Amino acid sequence: MFGLRKRDLTREFPVSANRPRLPYPDGWFAVAFSGDVRPGQVVRRRFKGEDIVVYRTRQGTVRVVNPYCPHLGAHLGFGGRVEGENLVCPFHHFAFAPDGRCVRTGYGTRPPKASLTQLTAREVNGVVMVWSHARGEAPSWDVPVVPAQDFPPPARHSTILIDHPQEVVENSVDIGHFGPVHGTSGARVTKPLELNGPRLTLGTSVHRTTPLLGRFDVDFDVEANGLGHIHVIARMPRMGLSALVQIMPTPLDPCRIETRFTVSARLGTAGSRAGRYSSWLATQFFALPSWQGAAQDAPIWQNKTYLRHPRIARGDGPIMRFRHWAEQFYPDEFREIGEAAEVSDPLPFEKGPHGSA
Ligand code: FES
Ligand SMILES: [Fe+2]
Repeated sequence: MFGLRKRDLTREFPVSANRPRLPYPDGWFAVAFSGDVRPGQVVRRRFKGEDIVVYRTRQGTVRVVNPYCPHLGAHLGFGGRVEGENLVCPFHHFAFAPDGRCVRTGYGTRPPKASLTQLTAREVNGVVMVWSHARGEAPSWDVPVVPAQDFPPPARHSTILIDHPQEVVENSVDIGHFGPVHGTSGARVTKPLELNGPRLTLGTSVHRTTPLLGRFDVDFDVEANGLGHIHVIARMPRMGLSALVQIMPTPLDPCRIETRFTVSARLGTAGSRAGRYSSWLATQFFALPSWQGAAQDAPIWQNKTYLRHPRIARGDGPIMRFRHWAEQFYPDEFREIGEAAEVSDPLPFEKGPHGSA
């Protein structure tokens, strides 16, 4: 595993006064990389305007809990520790089992009938994800395992910025910004947007030009599951390079998100064995533009507003169909696009509006 790189883009790029653009969406959201929480470790995270505590028992079970001890309210993220399979509060040493129940006091007396409040958490694709639902409903779908055979361990990166998870996912279908913001040309849809329950898939392709490599194509197969997990397979056929990218935006509070990325790349076809070093190089090669891509979007994202009735033009990606799909992740009273606006998008790109270079 490569070292984790973190950036707080709210400090690097100007931010105007902002207000929440959309409510918190339902679904699965990443709260930690698996490697952030080793056996016996307790970490604090922000999620939807509150602290949460993520810990891993000695045997490897991950739990995510509300931070406040039901005894007298100590914060388990400040001094709480793992003892065997239990989480122990720093204040009076009450211990809590993996099912949340208080199983011991610090005085050897009978424990009170009390439990930690647990969030539904799953570890998948090297990430700890929690389920969030406005009405407290149980998970109705899962984030699938992303097949990563033949890919090396990923590089990881996380950025904090003013934005909303929906806008990060929308960025993948917003073909029109690829040229102006990311400097590519000839953006086009190669596989039409497919919407299937919480799952979205889309194929796109762009030309990129660099002084070193000249012009080459980059093809993207994008899959989103809800608004908290995107995975992309990017291919550069001319170099025989493919990369597996995960992009996971998580609401920290009504205005800010933390987006975690993993990138791993390999040279050659699935059957070939790229050496350790060439995979490492390929991963670094591909990771860099992924990190830079988020920074390129940041000045726009941090200062934009969310228009519920945008003036869509030919050359845009399938933004309104995407938004209609995204409504399923909000409470009923928020669903208006389908009724109030015609859900239609201009024909998909045949030719990019920013030149086919
Ligand atoms: S507050 Fe946690 S043991 Fe007392
Ligand atoms: Fe972008």
